[in-house]
Amino acid sequence: MKRFNLRNEILLQLVESAQDGIVVAEKEGEDTILVYVNPAFERLTGYSADEILYQDCRFLQGEETNLSAVQAIRHAINDEAPVRTILKNYRKDGSLFWNELSVTPFYDEVDQITYYIGIQKDVTTQVELSLELEAARETIERLNHKLSGANHCVHTRNSQLTLGGCNSVSASLPSTQVRIDAYLAKHSCHCVVAVA
Ligand SMILES: Cc1cc2nc3c(=O)[nH]c(=O)nc-3n(C[C@H](O)[C@H](O)[C@H](O)COP(=O)(O)O)c2cc1C
Repeated sequence: MKRFNLRNEILLQLVESAQDGIVVAEKEGEDTILVYVNPAFERLTGYSADEILYQDCRFLQGEETNLSAVQAIRHAINDEAPVRTILKNYRKDGSLFWNELSVTPFYDEVDQITYYIGIQKDVTTQVELSLELEAARETIERLNHKLSGANHCVHTRNSQLTLGGCNSVSASLPSTQVRIDAYLAKHSCHCVVAVA
């Protein structure tokens, strides 16, 4: 495989201009402390490099951070193994974001220590959409169980929900629940729900 010989300063500029957070950490006792953060990490978290260098990244965690994800990261670091997970983090201003984090160890023969590269991607929009979709699916399933005397039908396609029967009606997800309730109340009818 042909390899281009990228100069080190070009590599650094690429990392500095990346859209996702990129950090480097090293072990210090129980902590992995930050020794480099790129500008995208500063933008994503609201912390400047000066404020957080030499600290462990767990300052981004809070009340709603999933413990299983944190545990997976801790085990991977202890095993010097790579890990990728999605967890809730908090910016300096307290606002929440979903962080798709990958951490990869690299043993440096020269310094004879293991460095860790962390890449942080803000996946808030994707995670929130998939949670809303999941909630809508659950609503549909609940209705499917609840309703009887079927004379109507619900289909979902391309994030659109359609109630068919005497009159058909469409609703954009995620306001599904409200629309279904209103429709059923108006027509005082029963319905069969099917997820396509
Ligand atoms: C390079 C690197 C980057 C990390 N980035 C984050 C991060 O963006 N958000 C986060 O919540 N934890 C991050 N962590 C994980 C924490 O620093 C810490 O390892 C994790 O909370 C598990 O350790 P603990 O159980 O002792 O807190 C990162 C770890 C490393 C090594």
